[in-house]
Amino acid sequence: MSSSLALPPLTEDLKQVLIDADTISRRVTEIAGSINRKYKDEKEPLVLVGVLKGSFIFLSDLVRKLDIPHVVEFIAISSYGNNGSQQGEVRMIMDTRESLMGKRVLIVEDILDSGNTLSYLIELFKSRGVKSIETAVFLDKPERHKAHVDIQYMGFTIPDVWVVGYGLDYKEKYRTLPYIAEMYPVK
Ligand code: IMP
Ligand code: MG
Repeated sequence: MSSSLALPPLTEDLKQVLIDADTISRRVTEIAGSINRKYKDEKEPLVLVGVLKGSFIFLSDLVRKLDIPHVVEFIAISSYGNNGSQQGEVRMIMDTRESLMGKRVLIVEDILDSGNTLSYLIELFKSRGVKSIETAVFLDKPERHKAHVDIQYMGFTIPDVWVVGYGLDYKEKYRTLPYIAEMYPVK
């Protein structure tokens, strides 16, 4: 059965599938391969830090394709949006369990939008004395960047549209769709 037949029907909110599940799977395998090659000679485990909630599906697919020693940590971030305090402000609401000091860290994030979240996290982790830091990001919206962030592993570049699925949500909806879909602009 072709995977397009297995897709749940699009709802009235969803305009089109941008990236289907097979394409996602192939790309995640490639990214895992790059990470495996980069860290193959390291003895200490790589600490993958998933940024909740958006990264949880990408992270769980990615770690099951790693053949290097690794451990998983999570953090949760709240970014202030248009409604209220200053835009671009980022706040940590849940920190890692274990200290990252002296560790090789890979931040795993769903999407690079303004870049505020990742630039905040990279600076924070550097200030905590990590041994090295890299970032794996599933999606990139280059038109939206405000802060410059170095990304070592990138899934896909997309236009400036709101997308859902594969961990990404719209008001907590559509997060667990197995593909990336573009939403109609919100009225
Ligand atoms: P930043 O602007 O790069 O700091 O990204 C902030 C966060 O906004 C991301 O981590 C996502 O959780 C969320 N975000 C940005 N664009 C989208 C989107 O198209 N769909 C769902 N979430 C998004
Ligand atoms: Mg996020």
